[in-house]
Amino acid sequence: MTGMTAQVFCLRYLFGMPTAALQMYRADDSGFHEKPAPQSTVRPENRVDYYTHASLLAFTSGKHFSGFYRRWFKSFSARVQSFHELNDNWTQQPDLLAFFERNFALAVVEATCGTILERENPNLAEDLAAYARYSPSLSKGLPRCFAPSAYAVRDKLFANVKSWHKQAEKNFNPSSVDDDGDADPFWGSEFMRSRQKIFQGFGGFDEDAAAASDLGFIWALTYNIVPTAMWVVLEIHKEPILRSTIRTELKQEGLLGDIQSDDIQKVLNLPRLQSVYAECLRLYTQAVVPRETAQKVQINGWEFPKGSTIVISTDVAQLDKAAWNTGIDNGHPIEKFWAERFLSYPEDPNSGPIMKSSIIQTGRVGGVQDETQKCHANGPIFSEKTTVGHWIPYGGGARICPGRHFAKRAIMTAAATMTSNFDIQILASEEQMKMDSRGYGLAAQRPVGRIPYRIKRWSESRE
Ligand code: HEM
Repeated sequence: MTGMTAQVFCLRYLFGMPTAALQMYRADDSGFHEKPAPQSTVRPENRVDYYTHASLLAFTSGKHFSGFYRRWFKSFSARVQSFHELNDNWTQQPDLLAFFERNFALAVVEATCGTILERENPNLAEDLAAYARYSPSLSKGLPRCFAPSAYAVRDKLFANVKSWHKQAEKNFNPSSVDDDGDADPFWGSEFMRSRQKIFQGFGGFDEDAAAASDLGFIWALTYNIVPTAMWVVLEIHKEPILRSTIRTELKQEGLLGDIQSDDIQKVLNLPRLQSVYAECLRLYTQAVVPRETAQKVQINGWEFPKGSTIVISTDVAQLDKAAWNTGIDNGHPIEKFWAERFLSYPEDPNSGPIMKSSIIQTGRVGGVQDETQKCHANGPIFSEKTTVGHWIPYGGGARICPGRHFAKRAIMTAAATMTSNFDIQILASEEQMKMDSRGYGLAAQRPVGRIPYRIKRWSESRE
């Protein structure tokens, strides 16, 4: 199954891809695997989906992946440096999402695209945030006269990307590349350099098409990861008992205080932090994952002819009452956040994200036994094997989100850093903290209102 219709839709409406380049995508029936689909007549150099997808996978899981994470870490740490100078007095801030839209998002953009975009546009953070807010209107394909502000911010970012491309092309030379063979100060990464070469090889691609494509990538890079990181920090700090449990977990791994990029494996293994991360994605992600059938298929007794579009809503699976564990006497309903939902305790056979009855039905009992054997003497483990098919915030199959490994690393590192160094007191009302589903289908949702908060430095010795 392919996802081409959705891709063309996003390229056209969300990113403003010119018609000639869109035509290339529409004509590309060769698939995204190395070997073209047998019936395809697309010329090898016009295999737009295959070439862009292969370079994406190389970037998000290839040899430069750890360098990408380290660049993000360095940039994020530098951006939050001023917060480390906070003292024991509370400092009030207007919006927790705005904190992530600036410090977290710009670090992700810098790690991928270098610094020119931000240097050229000091309001890059605010523009990306506005672009995200307007994305639901853009994705509906409203004409310009009905959404002038949405198009204005998209045009501004498009011009920003075009100007970055021009400057990078003018100033880059191979000696600017770091010793790691990846980062450079103009394009930012080997990924961005290789994309340019790929674009130049496509007949039908001009500089506007290249800018629209990179604007689309920057959108994918930031749109979902930013609110998800915010929800994780919000949920941890909203609940002082949870925050203190996470601190205990961080302390046990020697991660209280100064977390370094080399600590990433330890951070990724923290059961409770992983559970909070997974639960936030379960609760606050509403994606529609579309696929077209390359041939006739049968699913659950339904027959779909070749060329049908099938749409999977992630929240249907993620809020399935028949599958998810909701605790004793439904104490943790499926529509509510529960930090422990993804934890399995060796001494409690009823713990774990998926109800035992549902595990037996799907025949995944072996997976549970494997996982619980790994439990520490008396601590829980993060349990995920049984959630396959139920927890799908990143989509699934061969087109699953390629950014998921990076997203997990960056979100968990940011949450660990902000829990081990700061006390954050959330001042928003329950109404403000509700999820705003206007972006339904685009994946991670934002809160309805602003999230005002107070922040002060925290360390164990100050307690
Ligand atoms: C919490 C963070 C994220 C969430 C919830 C998320 C969610 C998704 C979903 C649901 C899809 C569709 C997958 C499918 O069709 O099966 C997707 C695709 C995609 N994501 Fe993510 N994503 C996140 C972070 C990222 C990041 C950090 C990047 C970049 C490094 C990224 C890049 C992409 C790209 C390029 C695609 C399209 C892939 C293709 O064309 O095949 N995402 N994402």
